[in-house]
Amino acid sequence: MNKRVEKVLNDQIEKEASSSQFYLAMASWAEGEGLSGTAKFLYTHSDEERFHMLKLVKFVNERGGDAIIAGLKTPQKEFKSLESVFRLLLKHEIMVTESINNLVDVCLQEKDYTTHNFIQWYVSEQLEEEALARTILDKIMLINGDNAGLYMFDRDLENATIQTKPSSGGSFGE
Ligand code: FEO
Repeated sequence: MNKRVEKVLNDQIEKEASSSQFYLAMASWAEGEGLSGTAKFLYTHSDEERFHMLKLVKFVNERGGDAIIAGLKTPQKEFKSLESVFRLLLKHEIMVTESINNLVDVCLQEKDYTTHNFIQWYVSEQLEEEALARTILDKIMLINGDNAGLYMFDRDLENATIQTKPSSGGSFGE
């Protein structure tokens, strides 16, 4: 496998693993706050990021590269508010999108069209995840601290779809 492509794929493995840990910390915080729907959504999101990581690990190994399983930094465990959680989540997803775009660039520069094709799944996934995070944030802004609104938001989020399968979409409150 092209060494430069292998390096950026391994960087991406670490980012997906960190995303999984970060969302797991958010889920645990939400559970402690009594926001069971939000916690369920974030636990599932954490699983999804682990799936993204595994898919990359298997791809690198199948293509003759060496997947690196890196140690991870401990994520923050306290969050100011629900709004702050989803602002951080969106910011994190935007960072991941930039990283995927860089991966696409490197594949094209190195003429690795197989990896380029593989990574298109992540390009679509990022579009969906960013859109879902923005929708959720819009709803939090609408609630504006209202307790009844928060109750309904949490209940709706419990049923929001975020799945760990290719070509899955995310939807909330539609
Ligand atoms: Fe796998 Fe949400 O980035």
